[in-house]
Amino acid sequence: MGSMRPSDFNVLEYKMQDLSELIESAKREFAEAGQAAALEDAKARYLGKTGRLTMLMKELGKLAPEERRARGQEINRAKAQVEEALNARREALADEALKQKLAAESIDVTLPGRGRSEGGIHPVIRTWMRVEEIFRSIGFDVADGPEIESDWFSFTALNNPPNHPARSMQDTFYVDRNDDEGRPLPLRPHTSPMQVRYARTHQPPIKVIAPGRTYRVDSDATHSPMFHQVEGLWIDENISFTDLKGVYSDFLRCFFETNDLIVRFRPSYFPFTEPSVEVDMMFTSGPRKGRWLEISGAGEVHPNVVRNYGLDPEKYIGFAFGSGLERLTMLRYGIDDLRLFFEGDLRFLKQFN
Ligand code: PHE
Repeated sequence: MGSMRPSDFNVLEYKMQDLSELIESAKREFAEAGQAAALEDAKARYLGKTGRLTMLMKELGKLAPEERRARGQEINRAKAQVEEALNARREALADEALKQKLAAESIDVTLPGRGRSEGGIHPVIRTWMRVEEIFRSIGFDVADGPEIESDWFSFTALNNPPNHPARSMQDTFYVDRNDDEGRPLPLRPHTSPMQVRYARTHQPPIKVIAPGRTYRVDSDATHSPMFHQVEGLWIDENISFTDLKGVYSDFLRCFFETNDLIVRFRPSYFPFTEPSVEVDMMFTSGPRKGRWLEISGAGEVHPNVVRNYGLDPEKYIGFAFGSGLERLTMLRYGIDDLRLFFEGDLRFLKQFN
C-alpha cells in the first residue's frame, strides 16, 4: 500500500488503515524535506489540487449520503493532522534558516577595532585654501563656476572670437556636445570665463577670485591636462595697473610668508587684457633664491571684455589675473615635477600633512 499514487485511491475502497498510512507517509516526506521548497512540493502531493487527500475528498460524492458523512469526517481529521505536521515542519525549517543566518552574520565582539586611517589635505587644495584666505582678508569674494563651459564664456566674451589666432594659444578639450550656438562645448581651458559670469551678475565694485579646475591638452613635468587656476578680478571706476602690482605683490609675500622676494611684470599678450603681462617672481634669500619664475598672467581688462560684463568701459576699469595653483604649490614646497600631484602616491602626499 505504501507507494499508492493519488489515482490508485478510491474512496469506495479505502480503509482506516489507508488513512493512517497516508498520514505517516506525509509526515515522513515532510521530515525528509530539508528546505522550504521541497516541503512545499511534498505538501502539494497531499493537499495540492491533485494531492492524495484532495482526490479522496473529490470522490466522496460517489458514496451514499450516510457513508459520505462518516468518511468525510475521517478524511477531514486526517487532513487536519497532515496540515498540523506541515505547519510544524514549516516552523522548524524557518527556525533553522534563521539560526544559520545568525551564525553566518555573527560578529566577534572581542576582535580589536579596525584602525581608521586619517585623511589629509592635498597640497594643491591646501594652496587653494590659503589663496582664498588671503584674498578674503583683503575683501575679495570667492566664486565658483562650471568646468564644462560655453564657447562664448570661454573665448568670445573674452575678446577672442571664433577664428581669432589667439584661440590657438590654448589647445582645448571639447565635450562631444554643442552649446546653444552650435559650437562644441569646451572644458574650460582657464578660469577667465568666471570674470564674465561673475561681473554679469554683480554690481561694481567687483572684487572676486574664482579658483577651480581647468583643462588643456598638455602633459609634461610642468603641465597636466587637468590643473588648477585662480582667477582674480577687481573692477571699479579707477582700478589701475598700480593696484594690480600692489595687490599681487602683497599676495605673493603673504602666500610665501616672506618679504624676501621680488616681482616683475613682463609685457605679454592676452586678448582679454590690455596691457597684458606675465608676472614673474624671484626669491632673494633661501635655497630657492636667484631664479625668475613665471607665476601668473595678468593685465588691465580690455574694454571689449568690460562691455561683455554688461558695464560701460568708459566708466569701469580694473585688473584681472590668472595664476596656476600647481605652480604656486611647487614653488612653496620646492617640488619640481607637477605629475607628483596627481599620482596619488601616499609617500609623497603624506609629507604635507
Ligand atoms: N587666462 C589666462 C591663462 O590662462 C591668464 C590670465 C588671466 C591672463 C587673467 C590675464 C588676465 O593663460
